[in-house]
Amino acid sequence: MFVRRSYFGSVLSLCLIAGIPALAQAPAQKHYEPTIASLNTHPLPKWYDDAKLGIFIHWGLYSVPAWAPLQDPEHPADGVGSTPYAEWYYNSMRNPGSPTEKYHKEHYGADYNYYNFAPIFNKEVKKWNPDTMAAIFRDAGAKYVVLTSKHHEGFTLWPSKIPNPNQDHLQASRDIVGELTEAVQKTGLKMGLYYSGGYDWTFDRGPIQTNNDYEAVQPESNAYGKYADAQVEELIERYHPAVLWNDINWPKSGNAMKVEADYYNAVPDGVVDDRFGIQHYDFSSPEYSKLDHISEKKWEECRGVGLSFGWNRAEGDAQTMSSEAVIDLLVDIVSKNGNLLLDVGPQADGTIPEIQQIRLRALGAWLKQNGDAIYGTHPWTRANGTTNQVDAQGKEVELRFTQKDGHLYATLLGKPASSTVLLHNVTAAPGSAIALLGASEQVKWIQKGTDLQVELPAALPGSYAWVLQLQPAK
Ligand code: GLC
Repeated sequence: MFVRRSYFGSVLSLCLIAGIPALAQAPAQKHYEPTIASLNTHPLPKWYDDAKLGIFIHWGLYSVPAWAPLQDPEHPADGVGSTPYAEWYYNSMRNPGSPTEKYHKEHYGADYNYYNFAPIFNKEVKKWNPDTMAAIFRDAGAKYVVLTSKHHEGFTLWPSKIPNPNQDHLQASRDIVGELTEAVQKTGLKMGLYYSGGYDWTFDRGPIQTNNDYEAVQPESNAYGKYADAQVEELIERYHPAVLWNDINWPKSGNAMKVEADYYNAVPDGVVDDRFGIQHYDFSSPEYSKLDHISEKKWEECRGVGLSFGWNRAEGDAQTMSSEAVIDLLVDIVSKNGNLLLDVGPQADGTIPEIQQIRLRALGAWLKQNGDAIYGTHPWTRANGTTNQVDAQGKEVELRFTQKDGHLYATLLGKPASSTVLLHNVTAAPGSAIALLGASEQVKWIQKGTDLQVELPAALPGSYAWVLQLQPAK
């Protein structure tokens, strides 16, 4: 022992004299234990904090019928059987008297088993081109992707070696998880995976009919706990997902803390959501809802551009957010320390419906010009602000703030009717320069008491939501 120490001591002093960093090996990787205390030492990785925009993909057997009852976006229907979520088709069709039961009977016949969609899906998916799909996400400006590896129906999008004791051949004919992981990573994006730990309708078929059933239908058998643990461990080992996005809950007969510790040990800069039912998470996951304040803890809103995660062929523009509304949503979320996980529901053959692609392209074009106000930013002291402007429809043009590298970004949500805009309660230090992202000329400004008055160029670059960048004098 003594000899060793003195040997180490002399190496250390030699290194110091020679100016060589001592013991220049990579630092030992931190080891996580399956305890909340250990999991809570996991730092939020910078890539995830900086990314701001991810794409969620809901793709499975439900993409074959691809239907859910139409809703009034302002007043969605009540009742489990009337959910607007097309990925709940199998559950909805078994709710007596539901619109989906009726639809299923009309289109496939009352006796047509849901799992008959598997061979159709597997035939359709042969046409899928993962590179085309990945390019769409890259061009939308997303930095990560999260794919449903297994949704509530139990069908897996990878060739799992873990046998399902209840049902055979419940797998995609292609390794969709693996192929998409490769394509997405090639485009420079991170690839994450969703797994439905809480529901698996091949273990507890339900159906869920009332609010009380939501909990009762979560399988808790030992067989299911083992199965879910083993499947997620398999996903971790095979694909190293950058995000491990569990849904509903983790079975009590499984081991959520061990899953998360094993995950961090395999993917130290990975992130987990808050749906494992334990007291640890990297981000919270409000669904079709968002925070109205800056949250110190990272959060991520998930939603589709319409009212469903899986593709609903019945939806049209009336149920779908406009491109402008999607831009507003992203800007608003980012100003409050959130990410947006914007969902697409591909058709069974992997085509992303045009109605969704239109929104993705618009978002991508906007981010190309204005991404500086989004990627890598942090919230400012407040998220929202007001101006003296209304747009052509009389809607107030609001502001959202972010900051980065000493610059303040103020995004105008809307097209101001006049080019002279007052930003309420914003102060530019004397000598500051103000730029309009996408424009070459500096913006003229004067401070008017507590308000900042800017003069926008007559011809604005882009078509919606302009960003002012305030650079304090050097
Ligand atoms: C829900 C739904 C589901 C969707 C998910 C996404 O829990 O059951 O269909 O996949 O949330 O957040």
